[in-house]
Amino acid sequence: MSASNENVNTLVNRELSNKRKLKILEENDFKRIKISQWTISDLELVGIGGFSPLTGFMIKDDYENVVQNMRLADGTIWSIPITLPVSEDEAEEINIGEEIALVGEDDVTYGTIVVKDKYTYDEKEEAEKVYGTIDEAHPGVKKVYEKGNIYLGGPITLLNRPDHGDFEDFYLDPSETRQLFADLGWRTVVGFQTRNPVHRAHEHIQKTALEAVDGLLLNPLVGETKSDDIPADVRMESYQTILKNYYPEDRVRLVIYPAAMRYAGPREAILHAIVRRNYGCTHFIVGRDHAGVGDYYGTYDAQDLITSVEDELGISIFKFEHAFYCSVCENMASAKTCPHDKEHHIHLSGTKVRELLRNGERPPKEFSRPEVADVLIKGMQQN
Ligand code: ADX
Repeated sequence: MSASNENVNTLVNRELSNKRKLKILEENDFKRIKISQWTISDLELVGIGGFSPLTGFMIKDDYENVVQNMRLADGTIWSIPITLPVSEDEAEEINIGEEIALVGEDDVTYGTIVVKDKYTYDEKEEAEKVYGTIDEAHPGVKKVYEKGNIYLGGPITLLNRPDHGDFEDFYLDPSETRQLFADLGWRTVVGFQTRNPVHRAHEHIQKTALEAVDGLLLNPLVGETKSDDIPADVRMESYQTILKNYYPEDRVRLVIYPAAMRYAGPREAILHAIVRRNYGCTHFIVGRDHAGVGDYYGTYDAQDLITSVEDELGISIFKFEHAFYCSVCENMASAKTCPHDKEHHIHLSGTKVRELLRNGERPPKEFSRPEVADVLIKGMQQN
């Protein structure tokens, strides 16, 4: 059995119980480094097993293999570097073998790392290989360029989870979603990633997939996104609204994915699939331009890349063509199912939709459910 096969079902747990946590913080006087919201979300996902089989931030060997070959050093598929960046000054103070406290801007110690490695890296190379561009206008590449110049690698311990505020009711660990699916009797579950409200095209591909499996995990990303994406609190309200009005209650669960969005298109689609496997899904949806931004990726690049490694992921991929409403078919459709000319297809750009919502206007009902549009209008006007 290859390393990747052994890894696909094992959930990592790097979190300490409250008692042991207090003891570790009382008994040690760790050096502290400040970490960003982005790094806190990575720490959390490693700690709760969302990023299994990772047990910490990547050491150089894993990092370089991931950047160059989309694999950890042991050969397991992994598409995006999960790293702990620090400045050169911070790195100088830190010795290999030391345990360091990872502290948020709010002074909370979110966890610790036992430093096994500290190394420089080539940010352009990371951008080119992972994001497919070195353009700093790309929001993920911009983040790579803004980070500290040194990465620390080593196993982590999660001591405090970040507060998810109003979303706590929709927060489950991967071990809990696995149990939930078992309790519901769902033997097959399709996971759906989104950073947007659920529009008719999303609903169409989710429901098409749901025809073939027992349940749907609507798993919106609620960590850091770019500023013109719709804020997570507005989206969460819109998800609850559409589920209440248009989905069978016993076939869908809404659980947040507390990660930061990388906008890395094809490479991020693979990360998204691996994480949903860890949450216990048997299937994952990759539609058009998954995790894309601007014109950096081709419509089906993510599907092509994920197909090349699908056998090793431990999750099956449902691939969907670009879906739209056709006014002749009077249905949601795609080029695979609709013979009519483009002029009959309803297409709206994200920019156009945002403009309508900001002006208090609903997009056409063929694009967005009116109940969802109303939540978004209210949200856009408040933000
Ligand atoms: S993202 O998280 O992948 O960036 P988005 O909300 O745009 O978010 O898409 C969620 C999922 O729906 C992705 O798998 C994407 O490929 C798919 N998708 C979005 N719009 C369409 C569409 N019109 N047709 C087919 N798939 C789509």
